[in-house]
Amino acid sequence: MAAAVILCVDDEKNNRDLLRAVLVPRGFEVVEAADGPRALAAAVEYQPSLILLDVMLPGMDGYAVCRALKEDPATQDIPVIMVTALMAKADRIKSIEAGADDFLSKPFDKVEILARVNMLLKVKDLSDRLKGAYANISQITTFGRVIARTYDPLKFDLLLALDKVVDLTIGHAVAPDKPTQVVAGLNIGGKAWRWYNYAHGTGKLQRAILKLNLEAFLNLPEGKSARVVSFSGPELEGEEIGRVVTKLQESQILVHNMLCFLSDDLCLLVLNYQRAITRYDADVINAIVTHTLLLKTIYVQINEVSGAFDYSLQALARASEVNDEDTGNHIHRVGEYSALLARELDLPGKFIRSIRVQALTHDVGKIHIPPAILLKPGMLTPEEYEVMKLHPQYGAMILGNNARLAMAHNIALNHHERWNGSGYPAGLSGEAIPLEARIVAVADQYDALRNARVYKLPFDHATAMHVMTQGDDRTRPGHFDPHVLAAFQNIASTFEETYERLRDTFENAYEPFPPAA
Ligand SMILES: [Fe+2]
Ligand SMILES: [Fe+2]
Repeated sequence: MAAAVILCVDDEKNNRDLLRAVLVPRGFEVVEAADGPRALAAAVEYQPSLILLDVMLPGMDGYAVCRALKEDPATQDIPVIMVTALMAKADRIKSIEAGADDFLSKPFDKVEILARVNMLLKVKDLSDRLKGAYANISQITTFGRVIARTYDPLKFDLLLALDKVVDLTIGHAVAPDKPTQVVAGLNIGGKAWRWYNYAHGTGKLQRAILKLNLEAFLNLPEGKSARVVSFSGPELEGEEIGRVVTKLQESQILVHNMLCFLSDDLCLLVLNYQRAITRYDADVINAIVTHTLLLKTIYVQINEVSGAFDYSLQALARASEVNDEDTGNHIHRVGEYSALLARELDLPGKFIRSIRVQALTHDVGKIHIPPAILLKPGMLTPEEYEVMKLHPQYGAMILGNNARLAMAHNIALNHHERWNGSGYPAGLSGEAIPLEARIVAVADQYDALRNARVYKLPFDHATAMHVMTQGDDRTRPGHFDPHVLAAFQNIASTFEETYERLRDTFENAYEPFPPAA
């Protein structure tokens, strides 16, 4: 560690020499000032660990200097020992009022000087550590606050989270006490890793890919246990860290000291603290990185659950197709068209993701409609049509009232409602029909027009477009929300592409391949 710097302020050179003769042999570095203004300037410039301040100075006296030091945030934490020949009670009180931390009388007693200096340096060290601990706590708290504000378990990106960790660890600008550089490694699958170097560039933190296979030089823990290793200088270099330091230095990254967080999927090498590394620093890095990895685990698990949820909805939708004329990819196309319309309508990402999946079960209620009606080769009688018109209510009943399925419920119940009020089951009109159902109504109708029906052949895209926007004997543009219909017109070509991409063929339909004739 560098020697502690002590600023000796006295107008008499003899006294300064005397103090120097006591302090230098004990390993202290001495800086001198002969008057108040120079003492203040030296305190700011050298940031000494302690100041020995004579009271009797020409011009600005020691009390005034002490007050000025204690008022300036840049110097107020430096302990000050007032030195004077007069140490009457009144002088001591005046010194305390000026903010002095201790007193020393002339003529000097060598043993007393060293005892008081060492005692105050110890106090300063403890208070610095306390301040460091507060800074560390506030760093962890800030991290928690940033995460609470920005964490989205469906869109978590470990690299972006890492950027935040590094930003908090080394800050926006080079600051005293902070490390100056971070090297981070991410496991990108199996034994492959990608390494990044973070450093202060022109006014901001910059991340660059580092072409080093550092993982080959580290004994990375297997499984979930992580470890934190610190390296404080060449003399403490272990074999493992020594290899990494050498590798980094070959890439022009100089290492004075380093804290390493090592786990099987993330490594963080925090370099060059501008002071000695403490075990509190290791605790902070450990806490922040462990939190980040926990967020990643939550993200992975939520995505698994969400994937299973989507899969279950698909399975339910497929089960309902058994006796329906709309089979194969119809439900998937309706999901895709609905998501495209939602995006064109500038709806939030969450809505777009939901409708893509929750539109799949729009006809799930058909499971309750007798196959004789669903698969009837000719037109339905009015009585049969009344039975068919019950499928929205059946669908709503099957999907129930779970909050996660609210959109699917709304779609199943309302996808045959029409903007002009001529639909069923409730004859709702306009915005009384939930938006998701108004979107699916357009998507479902386009796909129905593209497919064959007992009363018609399949239409090509242009004909389907014409029917949707101009109407025919069954479909009227007034059936649809004009905003959704306008969005459909804007992206009609994407509908055509989607239809072609997901069209029903023997390869991609869910139906089994028909037996050879
Ligand atoms: Fe339907
Ligand atoms: Fe449908």
